[in-house]
Amino acid sequence: MAENLYIPETGNREDIYAALLPQISALLSGEHDRIANLANVTAVLKEAFGFFWVGFYLVQGDELVLGPFQGTLACTRIRKGKGVCGTAFERAETILVSDVNAFPGHIACSSVSKSEIVVPVFKEGAVVAVLDVDSEWPANFSQTDRNYLEKICELVAKTF
Ligand code: SME
Repeated sequence: MAENLYIPETGNREDIYAALLPQISALLSGEHDRIANLANVTAVLKEAFGFFWVGFYLVQGDELVLGPFQGTLACTRIRKGKGVCGTAFERAETILVSDVNAFPGHIACSSVSKSEIVVPVFKEGAVVAVLDVDSEWPANFSQTDRNYLEKICELVAKTF
């Protein structure tokens, strides 16, 4: 893949995601190293949307351990069932939180974060990682984000 990311100038989130999918797919098929791939996916999402925090947590037994990310310092370990990330891991489903302060047990790595979406990465039916995206704006994630971030996580699964 070219070193430059193509981001449509419409500013429309769906158009941007649609343009990113084939680029992420190319990026992941050209490299097999997991850390390199996860790092670049977080960079692509950060560059395309300017989200406050984008990162992966990787499953290690009953815990999530911080992986490649773009953004501020974050907590390194989250137990299964704890916070939004641990809940997405336990339930093995995407969790969209419009107001993090209203989510019981939300783990505030930064007080700047107001809304959040966490999408599991599945390998052979098991959660192997979660993608966590945080915004400084309340209710900044919709079904569009969910649909595309789930597609991105399906691509990412190939690196596991
Ligand atoms: N807010 C997350 C913790 C991770 S950070 O936001 C980077 C949670 O509640 O699981």
